[in-house]
Amino acid sequence: MFATEVYSTRRENLKKQILSGICLFLGNQEAAFNYKSNTYPFRQDSNFLYFWGLDIPNYAAVLDIDNDKEIIFADDIDMDDIIWMGTQESVSTLANKVGVANTQKYSELDKYVKNAIQQNRKIHFLPAYRGETKMHLENLLGIKTNIINDYKSVELIEAVVKLRSIKDELEIEEISNMVDVAYYMHTSAMIMAKPNMTEREIAGTMQGIAHSYGNTVSFPIILTINGQTLHNHNYNNKLTAGKLMLADAGVESVLHYASDITRTTPVGGKFDTRQKEIYEIVLKANVEAIKMIRPNILYKDVHLFAAKTIAEGLKELGLMKGNIDEAVQQGAHALFFPHGLGHMLGLDVHDMEGLGENFVGYDKTITRSTQFGLAFLRLAKKLQAGFVITIEPGCYFIPALIDQWQRENKFTEFINYQRVNTYKDFGGIRIEDDILVTENAHRVLGKNIPKTVNEIEELIK
Ligand code: GLY
Ligand code: MN
Ligand code: MN
Repeated sequence: MFATEVYSTRRENLKKQILSGICLFLGNQEAAFNYKSNTYPFRQDSNFLYFWGLDIPNYAAVLDIDNDKEIIFADDIDMDDIIWMGTQESVSTLANKVGVANTQKYSELDKYVKNAIQQNRKIHFLPAYRGETKMHLENLLGIKTNIINDYKSVELIEAVVKLRSIKDELEIEEISNMVDVAYYMHTSAMIMAKPNMTEREIAGTMQGIAHSYGNTVSFPIILTINGQTLHNHNYNNKLTAGKLMLADAGVESVLHYASDITRTTPVGGKFDTRQKEIYEIVLKANVEAIKMIRPNILYKDVHLFAAKTIAEGLKELGLMKGNIDEAVQQGAHALFFPHGLGHMLGLDVHDMEGLGENFVGYDKTITRSTQFGLAFLRLAKKLQAGFVITIEPGCYFIPALIDQWQRENKFTEFINYQRVNTYKDFGGIRIEDDILVTENAHRVLGKNIPKTVNEIEELIK
């Protein structure tokens, strides 16, 4: 964990933003995989990690604003636990490490919360995303699980988003180090991308590299010759010459900070002409979008710029046509680039998504569009120094979507369907990097992972 002051300062900063009441933080419990004692790898809740640092199941904490008190609720382990899992420091020793002087038994939380309710005090809690947490909240607060998130504290969400959005030097270093591990995963994958290799051999190697550095993957690896399926988690295909291999994979540090990188490699190590043409368009969108990153720019404008870059490139290849400003304004490019340009990155790979995407990526000045494509943009608001974000433009040929749009005669003034139909076997390309917004501009985090046509071909050679 970080030094004690990191956590106490974070809580001090939170306290300043909440007017009254108590803030209730429920850490995660073990989650059963196929029976109770065979569990998924434990993952602590990111908000609990941020403010209370302790990466252990069955912890809860209260920040009592009215009484200026911090309490950790947890139980010391017993002899059974010691026999099966070894010794562990006491709750009070661990609490001290994150600057908390008061600890109570886990069962005391119920009394503490019920007491606060009796005194008509506001109970602030963040939206729950796990069934167990919802049930626990129901027991504590008497609100049914199916409506519990309707009672989330917007005041607390907004305060947490404000704090977690700005990364300090320690957090930036964590993320940057995880890009460095991703470097080894992605360069290994590029070198392995030969005909007759299977997707699972390469995905498995990437996963193994993350683990061999003492880390885990920050989300299930996407490794596919069908890059047109955006989140493809199937690894059963054999690589064949003429295909592109899309690898979207990131690493989670021991402290749970994530990297998130995508590279697209030609099977066999050499781009053919058609692949190179589309690749250069996506690369230009990636590089030029990154150049725009600085404080106060609207991320939505960077997204639209990337969309325009892709649409202009496709027009040059005869896949799109007409007035490209109009095409992008109406959303015609979304046939090829149907997702958002990126998202925040931090303790979650889609940072703070559990708090509600609109609280993280939008604010009072900007609301989410309902247009196909733009509606999926997770981050739209003005950037600030200290944000860590991804830039991940892509270009995909999704046969089912092409067929549907063509049947509906959609955007026939902007899309040359006759030519697009000849690309239905193409797959997809995405190029993703992790970027820190600095005081005046930006910094691409971590080691330079081969990205240009030349860099990729040279590495594989
Ligand atoms: N790995 C999912 C994403 O890039 O957003
Ligand atoms: Mn990704
Ligand atoms: Mn991403």
